Amino acid sequence: MKTQLIELNINDQIYEIPITPVDLLVDVLRKKVGFTGTKKGCGQGDCGACTVLIDGKTALACITLAIACQGKKITTIEGVANKDGSLHPIQQSFVEHGAVQCGFCSPGMILSSKALLDSNPSPSELEVKRALSGNMCRCTGYILILEAVHAAAEKMAQAGVK
Ligand code: FES
Ligand code: FES
Repeated sequence: MKTQLIELNINDQIYEIPITPVDLLVDVLRKKVGFTGTKKGCGQGDCGACTVLIDGKTALACITLAIACQGKKITTIEGVANKDGSLHPIQQSFVEHGAVQCGFCSPGMILSSKALLDSNPSPSELEVKRALSGNMCRCTGYILILEAVHAAAEKMAQAGVK
């Protein structure tokens, strides 16, 4: 299939990437740009491991065509940390609460949490559960993750992080 050069805005940088019209965002991120923090689990929209943000909203990169992301702002887990390299409060909270075990689900979980807290800084338990309902975790039993998200909300409120 014919390859074409497109521009994608990933983590606030513009990348020129050769793709075919059927290339999936998850494969482009991982194999063509080297953002391997975006995980590929089921590859069919069921597990949430490939979650990224597109214009601030969660999207499943395994069922998103890269070509459809032109002109949009893509955020992967590599773009979440603070500019000085320190962890974002959500990442910090996941570490502190033992919400990262094997880590395979963590990028997707953290990006879903970020989308939630950016739009709703003080979510109820139900709202957190709903926001993370598309992200599967085989290790933690979810409780530690829910605790981490609530703790992150408090941290962000205290620090005035938006
Ligand atoms: S890898 Fe995309 S939802 Fe599972
Ligand atoms: S920490 Fe292993 S799948 Fe969630």
